[in-house]
Amino acid sequence: MIGPPGSGKGTQAQRLANRFRIEHISSGELFRQAAGQGSALGKAAERYMKKGLLVPDKLAAGMVLERLQGLASKEGFVLDGFPRNLSQVHALHAALDALDKQIQHVFVLELPEKDVLLRITGRRLDPETGNIYHLKFNPPPAEISDRLIQRTDDSEATVRRRLQDYHTETLPMISFYAKMGIVHCISALGSPDEVDNRLRAYLE
Ligand code: AP5
Repeated sequence: MIGPPGSGKGTQAQRLANRFRIEHISSGELFRQAAGQGSALGKAAERYMKKGLLVPDKLAAGMVLERLQGLASKEGFVLDGFPRNLSQVHALHAALDALDKQIQHVFVLELPEKDVLLRITGRRLDPETGNIYHLKFNPPPAEISDRLIQRTDDSEATVRRRLQDYHTETLPMISFYAKMGIVHCISALGSPDEVDNRLRAYLE
């Protein structure tokens, strides 16, 4: 699942994982969990995330590929936020070859910058369930509103920085998958259900 910050990668990846009973592997979530647990690798990743910078490739790939290698042999997965540049693409495919697994679909979620900012600033996370909400577009149930948190990297300045890396590092890697004929570009505008339906059209 590829897309700029706030395009709905996590929201749609969670839905796909639930529907197909496959593993949802979110690089950002892995790093946030490791940082929350106080691990040295997590703390190192957090220093970059807070500034809206990409975590160095070796650290990012090491953590995500370890998670991938922990899957059972026939288990499917949806990758959200990884790979993010060509160097990570090569690391991923070396690991997949060794595991005899393949990438079948690449979804690129497209969202104009003004919508990115609206979605990011209103996002709230439930630390207990991992569910993603939005104060306006996907309001949380009243009974859990006290425990919701806002990500430390969800400020406007940090998002602009993340967008910059998306354009220079991530978009160029899409041609690698385009050559394999598995890229589906999807508008991320509209409700989560509408975006979900666009994804389903390619999967069913
Ligand atoms: P990561 O967590 O991956 O952040 P991101 O790519 O910036 O994407 P977001 O999580 O912000 O957004 P999303 O597309 O998942 O949208 P969501 O579904 O939440 O990475 C964080 C940081 O970790 C990076 O900046 C970097 O430092 C580091 N990192 C991660 N991976 C890395 C890698 N591979 N290499 C190096 N560094 C890495 O939705 C957003 C909001 O919109 C929510 O509130 C949601 O409820 C709402 N929403 C969703 N869909 C809709 C809709 N259709 N309509 C209205 N609202 C919607």
